Amino acid sequence: MNDALQEIHDFLPCRTPQTWIDSALANQDLLLIDHAHCEKKAASTALSLMYRYVDNTELLNKMSRLAREELRHFEQVLAIMKKRGVTYAHLSPARYAAGLREAVRTEDPGRLVDVLIVGAIIEARSCERFAALAPSLDEKLAEFYNSLLKSEARHYQNYLTLAEQANGGPVDERVVQFLAIEQKLIESPDSEFRFHSGPVLAG
Ligand SMILES: [Fe+2]
Ligand SMILES: [Fe+2]
Repeated sequence: MNDALQEIHDFLPCRTPQTWIDSALANQDLLLIDHAHCEKKAASTALSLMYRYVDNTELLNKMSRLAREELRHFEQVLAIMKKRGVTYAHLSPARYAAGLREAVRTEDPGRLVDVLIVGAIIEARSCERFAALAPSLDEKLAEFYNSLLKSEARHYQNYLTLAEQANGGPVDERVVQFLAIEQKLIESPDSEFRFHSGPVLAG
């Protein structure tokens, strides 16, 4: 295992449950559709930070690059879906990101610190899931997911560094609080399968 993935595993509070991996392998069309939504959402989150924090040059540069990269991922997922005859469709959003954002403080600079920590956690979890899925996927999708997990590991690092800068120091205590929420969202039964859902026991 490479160092970046090891760091992600050390950071996250738990591994993805096997029941989620089984659902993902059994619902690969849905996995791809939700994955496309996630890439688009990642770009839009980066853009909304650019609108709100116009005086933070490092944030602006990093988020601008991130948004472009996520949109490129979006295009790559769309291309794979097209090849496989999977039709893009609206999906109800997962509880995951909303569950994490519930704990975000409302006033800056706390708000920015928390949004960046949530960004780091989502990127880290995406990285962990790409790595967990890749060995069981067909060659093309495995290759794609292996390439993405490297990007997500880098995005995780960028978000965490920006969070520390926004906080003017370490963010460990706040990270621990968000990771406790994350673990519940990852391990407790979920009603619908999504890229970031908990295990879906009925299906
Ligand atoms: Fe991405
Ligand atoms: Fe990302």
